Amino acid sequence: MEQLVPFSIEAYAQAHSRPESEVRRALREETERTMEYARMVVGPLEGAFLQMMAQLVGAKRVLEIGMFTGYSALCFAEALPEDGSVLTCEIDEPSAAVGRRYFARSSHGHKITVRMSPALETMRTLAGPFDLIFIDADKINYVNYYRRALDLLAPQGVILIDNVLWSGDVLKQPPPDASTAAIQELNRVVVNDPRVTAVLVTIRDGVLVIRRTKEPEGLMNHAV
Ligand SMILES: C[S@@+](CC[C@H](N)C(=O)[O-])C[C@H]1O[C@@H](n2cnc3c(N)ncnc32)[C@H](O)[C@@H]1O
Repeated sequence: MEQLVPFSIEAYAQAHSRPESEVRRALREETERTMEYARMVVGPLEGAFLQMMAQLVGAKRVLEIGMFTGYSALCFAEALPEDGSVLTCEIDEPSAAVGRRYFARSSHGHKITVRMSPALETMRTLAGPFDLIFIDADKINYVNYYRRALDLLAPQGVILIDNVLWSGDVLKQPPPDASTAAIQELNRVVVNDPRVTAVLVTIRDGVLVIRRTKEPEGLMNHAV
């Protein structure tokens, strides 16, 4: 993943945002030491953003698609009230095993449930509403995840989708690979969906923030 925001700006923003907890720092450092794709972790700045979003919508039930070693799941758990819950989906057992060890160390870890199966299958079995749904798994399925997430979303809820700038590759035409094409398609689908209003935030690799449209018809998203 390419650094889209200059490193010094990112560091400044991070230094002036809610700090990372000790448990998350240890989890991130172990992930960086031991996991090949450690760059997949959202990190402290985006993590603080996810926590802010959860608290702004007063989230109690969070659904996460793509847990990896559990950093973002722990962000949500820390931001939820004591009776809040995070259901997180993963398919890679070695990654999930790292997460489980840190969930056990955190006083918020008991809020997290891990589902080990392909996320689309898990989503089919779930009943909503979820107050916040964070999509951060295989890009090929992004549109499918988005469509199902909208069925599961609470009326005042928010969907957050990660990596929607894909290191800047979303600008490339034709798309260089299937993942880029899938993210371009997702961004098009969302901005043209009259049921939702979205903003693409340029934190890290881009986060799409989506809520149900509340404006009257004339003010809905325009087509691109
Ligand atoms: C970008 S990482 C998630 C990073 C995590 N949110 C964090 O901040 O630490 C994507 C994860 O999605 C998982 N994944 C890929 N395809 C999946 C699928 N079909 N169902 C569930 N998880 C999947 C991968 O194994 C990987 O661990």
